[in-house]
Amino acid sequence: MDSTMENNIQMQDSHGRGHGYLRISITENCNLRCTYCMPAEGIALTPKAHLMTADEIITIAQTFVNLGVNKIRLTGGEPLVRKDAAAIIQRLGKLGVELTLTTNGILVHDFIDTFKEAGVTTLNVSIDSLQEEKFNQITRRNYFDKFWKNLELLDANGFQLKLNVVVIKGFNDNEIVDFIELTKERNIQIRFIEFMPFDGNQWNKDKLVSYAEILTQVNYNYSAEKVERMTDKPNDTAKNHKIASYKGSFSVISSVTNPFCSTCNRIRLTADGKLKNCLFSNTETSLLDTLRAGGDIEPLIYQNIKSKFAMRGGMDDDTKFQNPKLFSQNRSMIKIGG
Ligand code: GTP
Ligand code: 5AD
Ligand code: SF4
Repeated sequence: MDSTMENNIQMQDSHGRGHGYLRISITENCNLRCTYCMPAEGIALTPKAHLMTADEIITIAQTFVNLGVNKIRLTGGEPLVRKDAAAIIQRLGKLGVELTLTTNGILVHDFIDTFKEAGVTTLNVSIDSLQEEKFNQITRRNYFDKFWKNLELLDANGFQLKLNVVVIKGFNDNEIVDFIELTKERNIQIRFIEFMPFDGNQWNKDKLVSYAEILTQVNYNYSAEKVERMTDKPNDTAKNHKIASYKGSFSVISSVTNPFCSTCNRIRLTADGKLKNCLFSNTETSLLDTLRAGGDIEPLIYQNIKSKFAMRGGMDDDTKFQNPKLFSQNRSMIKIGG
């Protein structure tokens, strides 16, 4: 059974959802500047003294494990730019959880042994265009060759890979079939992600490519009997499909048009030690302040989870979700980690 499948009764919210999957952002820094994630004007970085140290990350993570967390994903910014990332990964690897990361892939060549030693077997890697010019345009950097070399390296070392593609109208929606064709010979999962609104990312509805639109393109290019709808795991964010006879699969993460909040098992810890019970929550609980003051963080965790909204931080309909006054009360994505 997948380790995230069981309902974590210790950390239930008031809607009956258990929380066994913790996402920890270990840095707000990134070596790319993706337009949908990082505001054009940059971000004010939190002073280092207010960020969790490696010891604090381990202490807080251990508390969560004691409360039933069985899966930890490291995020950023880009988690691997943090100087002590290798040590953090190694130490978290000893907590007995499923440990994994979401990365842009640019630095993974330095971490292959660390991943193996820590028991990391799966990685989610972001890539939004298969065309060099567009890759450079969206990332505002020139690492296309490096990215592909590293992706091959991960593949050659046997890591199970999911590739995250944020689909943006007029930018990369003409590459959907090209991405799916990557799954013909490779056992990878391509995940098309609906573009989501966050502070400073210039979201508007016209840039959204919906789950329905993605499937329309799929059905136009592949015959109906070749497109298989797979069974999703209970807490999956992704609606999984595959093309018959292809080695890999493709999915859509449809937070905008088809949210999956009723099966949400995720909680997030930001690099400055704040607990977010939802990707879209605009209220946070500082665990780090209490930890540093010598207090007990467990009651804070319970309270935070109990106060979780049923859906998208309370933005339960399209009007609320698409209202910049509401979504800009949340952090920018680079400071959440996805
Ligand atoms: P798995 O653990 O492999 O299921 O990956 P994941 O989807 O949890 O992680 P990843 O970091 O690869 O995220 C891919 C996309 O899904 C990103 O755009 C995330 O923001 C989005 N995402 C991940 N978790 C959630 C969630 O709980 N709610 C919403 N709305 N989006 C999420
Ligand atoms: N909408 C959807 N997905 C996003 N990501 C970053 N910003 C957004 C956004 N505005 C994705 C990245 C990365 C993951 C952690 O979050 O593609 O893979
Ligand atoms: Fe969970 Fe919030 Fe994502 Fe819904 S939007 S799945 S409640 S994190």
